[in-house]
Amino acid sequence: DINPDYDLAKPLNFDGVGLRQKLASYGDPHFSLFMRKLFIKALGYSEDALSRPIVGIVNTYSSFNPCHANIPQLIDAVKRGVQLSGGLAIDFPTISLHESFASPTSMYLRNLMSMDTEEMIQAQPVDSVVLIGGRSSSSSSLLLPWHGNIWLFDTTTGCDKTTPAQLMGGISANKPIIHLVTGPMMPGSFQGVRIGACTDCRNNWARFRAGSLDIEDISALNEELAPTAGTCGVMGTASTMSCILLALGLMPLSLPSATAPAVSSSRLRIAEATGTHAVSLAKSQLRPQTLLSKESFLNAITVLQAIGGSTNAIVHLMAIVNRHPQLAGSITLHTIDDIGRKTPLLVDLKPSGDNYMTDFHNAGGMIALLHELKPLLHLDVMTITGRTLGVELASIPFRPLPPDSPLKSIIHRYHEPLYPSSSLVILSKGNLASAGGAVIKASASKDRNLLFHTGPAVVFSGPKDLAERIDSPNLNATPSSVLVLQNIGPVGNPGMPEAGLIPIPRKLAAKGVTDMLRISDGRMSGTAGGTIILHVSPESADPESVLGIIKDGDMITFDAEERYLHVEIGEEEIKARIEQRKKAMGERGESAWIAREKERGYKGLYRREVNQAEKGADFGFLTAAGPS
Ligand code: FES
Ligand code: MG
Repeated sequence: DINPDYDLAKPLNFDGVGLRQKLASYGDPHFSLFMRKLFIKALGYSEDALSRPIVGIVNTYSSFNPCHANIPQLIDAVKRGVQLSGGLAIDFPTISLHESFASPTSMYLRNLMSMDTEEMIQAQPVDSVVLIGGRSSSSSSLLLPWHGNIWLFDTTTGCDKTTPAQLMGGISANKPIIHLVTGPMMPGSFQGVRIGACTDCRNNWARFRAGSLDIEDISALNEELAPTAGTCGVMGTASTMSCILLALGLMPLSLPSATAPAVSSSRLRIAEATGTHAVSLAKSQLRPQTLLSKESFLNAITVLQAIGGSTNAIVHLMAIVNRHPQLAGSITLHTIDDIGRKTPLLVDLKPSGDNYMTDFHNAGGMIALLHELKPLLHLDVMTITGRTLGVELASIPFRPLPPDSPLKSIIHRYHEPLYPSSSLVILSKGNLASAGGAVIKASASKDRNLLFHTGPAVVFSGPKDLAERIDSPNLNATPSSVLVLQNIGPVGNPGMPEAGLIPIPRKLAAKGVTDMLRISDGRMSGTAGGTIILHVSPESADPESVLGIIKDGDMITFDAEERYLHVEIGEEEIKARIEQRKKAMGERGESAWIAREKERGYKGLYRREVNQAEKGADFGFLTAAGPS
């Protein structure tokens, strides 16, 4: 006879699917349950505690990650919410990625983090999981699976690649998930002017390069640019992804989940409430593949355009949607462009505008924005509470700011936009864009004349070549030159580094040039601005790429309105150059395209499996379609 405590036939509070799957691994499932209980009891839990719905909390804290520095407090608050609601909360770690400390780039490790997240969720039959960045307690990493009845993930996400990685893994694992972001940092101050990471990091570094700031100034700025814990305080990738999570319905709309500062008490109350929602979600078993619809993604893209969001979010959204078995392929770069044409830019934050995330929060945040965007939104989509977006919005009345409020200009009215439409533009015509497309954040252009421009190319073959020559007094560049950087695409320079923000050549910067047309197959930080075309696909490492055969002096034409990017080389000449280049690659045997077949480790896996930017730079075998 089986002791009822170890009897699999004993009714469970929740669905218990994970329990039965995992127990098979010991052969005797009753003995397996006995073993799990034995080990979890070593941590001091009582039978009463273990009989509760179990909410796992995925912890991405790292002492190398200041964007996640508040996670220990957030975990405490989430646990409080879970336990006040009758659940048992247990945290466990996954990897942590900070933009500046993940070499060669955090994007290189995003897919690894998504695999870690998916597999740890799958492996541990906890009843529910909160995906949260935070301190990794040594005990939690020893946890063995034992009986579990709820699957639920509460995701706390922060620094740029964390949210997309966790959502990609969460959709693939398809257990109920709820997101909680760490929140933006506060702005700092320099000589009476507010500053914040990282638009002002770049602006001020450019001023330092141009000689208008000295070493003392730049050192003083270094102390103030990231003055608190939290994610970059402008509309960079982390903030963009937070707003997108809310638009997708993956965070509760009744809380200022996307915008409350990392160091605010509001952020802790959001964490506590997220724990409460996590227990409800455990009961509803609303999973991301059910919750998310094509219309959820259309709403997310509308928000992306209206906030002037990060270009990186486009790559992430493609990777995220392509993890969904029913929606993969239904959202493309064209969808982003089509929505852009009818969506005004409403939020006045850096880098497209002038302000900081705290201003957006204080001006009403995402709820105010969603009310403003209502005419463009699909209101019947599901959200994490089990209620539709329309029902949620109706229950949170829009309270406009007083007419004389200094915050009035932060969220523009629908009919008085900051920029009429197409903050993010997808290029799809001309020989540099018709194959796999390219992306530009037109609203962050500093010199709008450059959105319609023809000029001669100045080509750099890679980051090393760029570093060696960009500041040379002999560089053959004028303000109308088009700077082209090759070999920073997904395969050519694994992780597609954010080197697309090619610096203005020093000799031109010193003369006051602050913007030039720049083109690459890489990415740029969401906090950066300028007339910068990114994600050109196929990338230049691809032997068939047109970007890869551009030479100094070739004339390049860009027309943002026509979505046109073209290098004036005839068809025959293109073919000849491609053949010539392939031959040279074969002879030298140095092409990344060829070398990846023999590379070991994660780098080899990455280079062999990563797909192009328009598909999300995910690994083909992780997509819903599987290996291609
Ligand atoms: Fe983490 Fe900017 S460096 S969000
Ligand atoms: Mg960034």
